[in-house]
Amino acid sequence: MTRTIHIALDINGQRRELDLEPRVTLLDALREHLSLTGTKKGCDQGQCGACTCHVDGKRVLSCLTLAAQVEGREITTIEGLAGDAGDLHPVQAAFIEHDAFQCGYCTPGQIMSAVACIREGHAGSDAEIREYMSGNLCRCGAYNNIVAAVRQAAEVA
Ligand code: FES
Ligand code: FES
Repeated sequence: MTRTIHIALDINGQRRELDLEPRVTLLDALREHLSLTGTKKGCDQGQCGACTCHVDGKRVLSCLTLAAQVEGREITTIEGLAGDAGDLHPVQAAFIEHDAFQCGYCTPGQIMSAVACIREGHAGSDAEIREYMSGNLCRCGAYNNIVAAVRQAAEVA
């Protein structure tokens, strides 16, 4: 029988209790165990950024984070970004306005990364945005529009 551990995770302001094998990543805990499927798996080895979410307000790759590592930390996923009334976060609104996505698969990671990028103070110029958003791959090639969206959101943030 496989050993499981009991963990409590604070996700988008809600406490969620789980019994998991210790090897389960935060990404798979979100997707497979909590039905929070907004966080995407593009590679599972830290190379694409589709799994980006926040731990204590900082961007992390959830595919390289074990769920057990983040017990007691504050986790935010794309589902927790909008306000309680459903009002979009400025970065979400800017992505729509600027057509900063096509298939949408990289988009949750792009948006979570962009929110952190702005918070880190790394959205001062187009070149800086490109550099500090370069950990998020987009096969649809929406990069120009992503930069425009991040720039606009940084101005209102
Ligand atoms: S799925 Fe985590 S970086 Fe690609
Ligand atoms: S919108 Fe398709 S991969 Fe980025």
